[in-house]
Order: sequence, then structure tokens, then C-alpha cells
Amino acid sequence: RSVRLSEYRPPDYLIDQVDLDVVLDGDKTLVTSVLEIRPNPEGRSNVPLVLDGDEITLAGPPLLDNDELTPEAYVETPQALRIHMPPKRAFSLKITTKLDPAKNTKLMGLYRSGAAYCTQCEAEGFRRITYFIDRPDVLSTYRVRIEAGRKEAPVLLSNGNPVEAGLLPNGRHYAVWDDPWPKPCYLFALVGGDLGVVRDSFVTVSGRHVGLAIYVEHGKEDRASYAMDALKRSMKWDEDVFGREYDLQVFNIVAVSDFNMGAMENKGLNVFNDKYVLASGDTATDGDYAGIEAVIAHEYFHNWTGNRITCRDWFQLCLKEGLTVFRDQEFTADMRSRPVERISDVRGLRAIQFVEDAGPFAHPVRPDTYREINNFYTATVYEKGAEVIRMLQALIGRDAFRLGMEFYFSRHDGRAATIEEFIACFADASATDLSQFLLWYSQAGTPEVAATSSWDEDTGTYTLNLLQTVPKTPGQDIKKPMVIPLAFGLLGMDGEDLPIGGDNAESGLIVLNKAEHSFAFRGLNSRPVLSINRTFSAPVKLTTDLTENDLFFLARYDSDPFNRWQALQTAALRVLIRSVHAVRGGNRPLNDPRLAEAFASAIADPEIDPALLAQLLALPSETDIAREIGNDVDPDAIYAARIGLKRALARFVRGALADLYRGLVNDGPYSPDARAAGRRALRATALDLICAEQDDASAMLAFAHYSAANNMTDRMSGLAVLSGIDRPERDQAFADFYKRHKGDALVLDKWLSLQAVIPEAGTLDRVRRLMKHEAFSMANPNRVRALIGAFAASNPTQFNRADGAGFDFLADIVIDLDPKNPQVAARLLGAFRSWRALEPGRRGRAEFALKRIAATDKLSPDVSDLVIRALA
Ligand code: ARG
Ligand code: ZN
Repeated sequence: RSVRLSEYRPPDYLIDQVDLDVVLDGDKTLVTSVLEIRPNPEGRSNVPLVLDGDEITLAGPPLLDNDELTPEAYVETPQALRIHMPPKRAFSLKITTKLDPAKNTKLMGLYRSGAAYCTQCEAEGFRRITYFIDRPDVLSTYRVRIEAGRKEAPVLLSNGNPVEAGLLPNGRHYAVWDDPWPKPCYLFALVGGDLGVVRDSFVTVSGRHVGLAIYVEHGKEDRASYAMDALKRSMKWDEDVFGREYDLQVFNIVAVSDFNMGAMENKGLNVFNDKYVLASGDTATDGDYAGIEAVIAHEYFHNWTGNRITCRDWFQLCLKEGLTVFRDQEFTADMRSRPVERISDVRGLRAIQFVEDAGPFAHPVRPDTYREINNFYTATVYEKGAEVIRMLQALIGRDAFRLGMEFYFSRHDGRAATIEEFIACFADASATDLSQFLLWYSQAGTPEVAATSSWDEDTGTYTLNLLQTVPKTPGQDIKKPMVIPLAFGLLGMDGEDLPIGGDNAESGLIVLNKAEHSFAFRGLNSRPVLSINRTFSAPVKLTTDLTENDLFFLARYDSDPFNRWQALQTAALRVLIRSVHAVRGGNRPLNDPRLAEAFASAIADPEIDPALLAQLLALPSETDIAREIGNDVDPDAIYAARIGLKRALARFVRGALADLYRGLVNDGPYSPDARAAGRRALRATALDLICAEQDDASAMLAFAHYSAANNMTDRMSGLAVLSGIDRPERDQAFADFYKRHKGDALVLDKWLSLQAVIPEAGTLDRVRRLMKHEAFSMANPNRVRALIGAFAASNPTQFNRADGAGFDFLADIVIDLDPKNPQVAARLLGAFRSWRALEPGRRGRAEFALKRIAATDKLSPDVSDLVIRALA
């Protein structure tokens, strides 16, 4: 069964009001729903009413306007409740379903996590709670009464404002919540449990008082303070930057330990994977803090981009996700360092989205067909979706962009919108035709831009030729030229930005909207050096005719910090790719002294901030190299080339690295602020380079770093370096870490992950052993991702073992996990996103493993959709 965008039809019935009564009572949990339904004037008339369901059953016959329906009037299956001839006017329908939350291992709908009942409804989980028209263009107001044992669940939460609470006989109690804002059912949430709480408050720009609360496991309250701080900063930022004010009396966040994704933006009641809430200096790294800040902001920003304005259908998912990722990236850029945020976002985009876009799972930012919507919560929808918004801003300018956002908020508030409606706001705000721009939503694949140049000494004219191609992707053989905004500059002999006059190229932005175009710059004194796609203004693959000397020049002088970083990455990638060929030909890895000099001069530059320098000194990852090579990939050769180059560079700048490492030591108390984090990141990068030899001295230094750490960030950077060094100190440190953090599942996830990514032949056996360890559980998504997900996605040499054992292992896990939690099983399959790019031996073994999964009985739609696409 496939759903197609072109087959969209408005719903035949609307539901204006939902009254839920939820009695939380273990395996006898009862949900009674009273729906105010009416025929949709825009839908078909005289058709049956079909309510969606998923693995649920009625506790008794439904009541229509208080009268029991006769058995002939309806049919019930676990997937649907169908009422053959509903009235042609407004009516009410009362439905009761009986649930067993503890048995719900899919973690969709109402389930148990630790001491709490909780819910996850996006995308189609509400139908696992009660029969409903489960689609985002059916918007209703909700009133929710929750009843539970006072001991078992002193905390009872739902969306909206609390309106009533009270005691009941037999040690029970209840609470009533009312949400005045119409919403689709995927934004419904309910929590009941015995939880600790941290409270704070926020006064909105118009002076309204909002009670803030974060609910966590008892005893973890002190780990929620950073999340609370991030929430208040998010609320303020959205007022200042987007003019968006919060709209309820309370804003609640609940952290749970069992969660399929990162977090969920349910109206007024965000439910989080506790990994994105809980942090202390001793248990969380700087990276974890940054993740918490970003996810708290992301879910909060959804209140306007997602909740007040939602999606007409699930094809429009990027309408809320791409836009909200863009907003959270801008928030982080404002809170921390803009260039460093940009570099890390682009690293992530290339590592995951570019790879996705080049393989069997490639799909447009707005897909036009799906078998299982859960498989479309992807880097393409989220991260490329955010890039598309960023390009829109670059194309029409910041002021028109802000005006377009104002149009969007005012025109579509309270409604379910489409991408076309969203883009129309910006077309109106900028008086521009954005029809070509819409191709970014419909054409999959990463556009490739080739920039070549010529120089005419006599006339002082520099001509830039740009050529774009969009590669074929599954189901899309023919592509049209896209509109590609390329921020650029021309550097003079001293590295200064030259004034840019030339045709079509004012203000440092070239808009390439044809397959091929040339731009001439006249009146120059000498051949300039081109800096193009500054700030990564377009998510494209760029090739240029810049020489390596040009690249080193840019690395030193470019006024755009992003392109300084990019120039070094490009130069290093060129060396690495030559080196991979050398290694495969039986030669030693290559090196380039100019790269080492560039490292040395970056280290010596007093102007560079530590966080940026840490990025400059980090070589392209193995995934970066594999992606650039594109086919016939040999992960072992890539590993050898990369470690070889790292060693050579480290030897060259050894003294400077040692000084850097010593100079950055900090004995003061831990603070997660961006400046301190930047210094720790740079110190960790220095340590990693110094220890590239992986010898006795490296083991000793990394162990000393680990032992001296007074915070989790430093402890983890020591342990990460040690994990690559096969020496007794490694086992000693892993044992020590376990002893220190025994019983703290979130911290032990780091311990599992680091062991899973060791690039050694023994790792698969280690992973198998760890699966039997008390720190591991197949029932918890975080544990599965920490151990198995890390092995599959972040250990290129061992997952892609030449004997195929890594693929077989993952296939076994997916087959075993699929019946219990299909979403988590399907996510693991992402590790096959570029299996066809492998060299023939490994490719054959990957295919064999995929076919074995495909041949398994009763696969979930989640897993079967992905294996079908992987093998297509
Ligand atoms: N809307 C949530 C977020 O970004 C993601 C929820 C996805 N859940 C799922 N089961 N597919 O921010
Ligand atoms: Zn989101």
C-alpha cells in the first residue's frame, strides 16, 4: 500500500471537539472518547465514516448521539472502525477502547516508560489509543480527563491548561486539561506517573506569566537545570527574532527513558528522550549540552512552526521540520559561534544527507509517495529541508524573508498548510517568482556545480563559468536546472576581498538558474582567487579549478571562516583520495607538506577562536572520503590513508600541538559555555593528533588525560582516543569508567558506543559480548542505538568487514527486533544507505544480508519498505 501526494483529498468528516476520559489502570486502562463530528463541506457526502485504528479493540458498541449502534450499523477491525451510514448533520460519537500500555513495545501510542505512562502520537500513534480520523488536516480542540492511582501516578499531564483536579475514592485522583488551540491528533499527549519536577517561570513580551516545568525521574532534578535555562532562552529568542509569543498558561516537558526519537512537540507538553534533557558536568559532554540546547529549542519553536500552523498531510512534513531545524540552527548560531555552528551543521549534512541523497533511499525534501511515513523522518526532510529555507533567505534577502514569515504566521494560523502556501508568502513578500525554487522540494539528489575560470591578462577580465547537473535518483531520471544561490568573493594578491562589479553579480551573490552560465568581472589588476559557496549558501557538491596553492591561500586569508575551513577540507580530501589509491595499489599512505604548513599556520594564528581551530584541524572523516570516492569503496584503505595522513601531519606540527595541549589546560570548575567548550574541543583535537601514533606513549598520555579529567567532556575525549589504542591502559580506562558510572544508563551508553566503534577486528565479538552485559537491553532504543547503531553507522571498517560478518550481524538484529519495535529496527537499516558504493566483494555480502531480511516472514511496513528500496 502506497500513499501518493497527487491523490490527496480533503477529509469527508471533521471532528471539532474531542473529549477524552483516560483511566490509567495497568492492563485495564480505558480510553473513552466523545467526538463532535460533522460532514466536511469540502468532502464527499453520503459516504461511510471510517476511523483509523491500530492494534486496538472496542470495549463495547459505540454510541451515536447517546444511542448504542446496532451491530449492523458498524464494523470494527483492529485497523478501522467503520460506520456505514452516519447522519448528514453534526453528531456525537462515543467510543471506548481498552489498552495494555505495558505490552506496547513499539513505543507508539500509550505506553509505559519507567515510572510513567506516556504517549507518542506522531505520525500515526493516536490510532493506537482510540479510533480517530488520524490525519493532520483534521483539527480539533481537546478536553482531557485523566484518572489514576494517587501513589502510582501523582503527576497527571496533558495538553493545554490545567482546569480541574481532585481526589477520588480508593486512593485514586483525577486531573482535567483543556487545550483551546485546535490541533491534529498527532500533537496529543498524556503523561501519568511518579516523577520529580523542576519549576520556573517566564513572562512573555506582552506580560503574560507562563509556568514552566520539567518532569524527570526522581533524584535527577538537578540535571534538568540546563534544559530549563535553554527553554527560557528559546522563548525569549523566538520573541526577539521571529516575534512569536507563547500562548498557554503552562509549558511542560517530560523526560522519559524509552523513546523512539529525540523528542516530540506535543502542544504545551513536550515529551523528550531523557538524553536531551538530563545533563551535569560529570555525566554529560559539551556535545550533549549543545544537543540539549538545540532540541529544547527545536521542540519549543514547533509551537508556532508545526503546532499553530501544521501540515495538511504527511508529504508536507518538511513544512514544519525543515523550517524548525532552520530556526533551531539560527538559535544556536546566535547563542554560540555562527561559523562553528555552520561548519558542524554542514559536516552533519554531508555525512548523512548527502550520502542518503546519493543512494537507494534518496527522496525529495517533499516526497510524493510513501509506504511508511515513519521512514521519512530523514536527514533529507529535516536537514536539507532547513538548507532550502536558508537558500530562500539568501535569495530574497533577510527583510523579505522576515516579511514572508509574517505573512505565513498571519495567513495560516490555526490551519494545516502546504509547501505551496508557504512559498507563496515569500513570493508575495519579495515580489519574485519562486516557481523554479520549488524544484528544491520536488527533485531529489544533490546538485553538482562545476566552477571553471579563465583570466584575460590584457583586459583584466576574470570569467567564471558555472555548470550545474542534478544526478539521477530512484524514480527520477530527468532533472531540470535548479536555482542555486552562491555567495562568493574574489580575493586579491594580499588576500583582501576585491570589490565586485561585474554583470549579474552584485552584492557577492551569484544566482545560477540555468544549466550553464558565465559571469565576467572586469578591471582587475591580477588574477583573483575565487571563494565560492561562502557560508555554504547552497547545499551542492562543488568542484572548482582551484589549485592546491589557491586552497591553502584561501585557508589562510578568506574573510569567510566557513570557506577557510572548507579550503583545508578540500585540500586534505584531495590528498586523501590520492592516498587511498596509493594504499590500494600496495603503497604507503601519502602526505602533503603544504597541508602540514597550513596546519602550522592555523595553529600559530592568534586571531582564530579555539572552537574554529578545532574544526580546522579535524581531517575529513572516513565517511567524507568514502562519499567523495563514490564507488568501489574499500573502507580499510580509507582508514589506512586517513590515519597515515594524521600521523604525518602530527609529526610535522608536534611541538606546536604539545604547546597547544598544555596551554589549554583548565583546572577551574566545569562550565558548559561555548567558550570553555571550544577550548576543551581544541585540546581534545590536539590530544587526538598527538596520539595518532597509537603507541605506548600515546596510550600513557591519553590515559593521563582521562585520569585528570574533572568533567565528562575531558573524560570522554581521553577515553575516545584510548579506544583506538590497543594497550592495557584502554581496558583499564573502560573498567574504571564502568565502575564510576555503573547504574547510570545514559552515561553507560557512551561507554557502549565507544567500544562499538573501535576499528579493530575484535570489535564485532566485543559488541556481541556487550549485548549480554547488564548495561544493555534490546527493549530500550537508546541502548540499541548506543551499541548496535554506533557499530553499524560509525564503525566503517568493522561494520563493512570484508567477510560480511558485520552485515549478517545487523540483519539478525533487525529481524529479531522488527516484531517488537519496527521503528528502531528500520532506523538501524540506515547503515545500508550506501551499500552499492562498496567494492564488489563487500557489496555482494551486503546484498546477501539485505535479501535475507527481505525474505523474512511478516516484516513490518517500516522494515519491508526500506529493504525493498535498498534492493530496488
Ligand atoms: N516531530 C518530532 C521532532 O522533530 C519527531 C517525531 C517523530 N516521531 C516518529 N515516530 N516518527 O521534532
Ligand atoms: Zn521537529
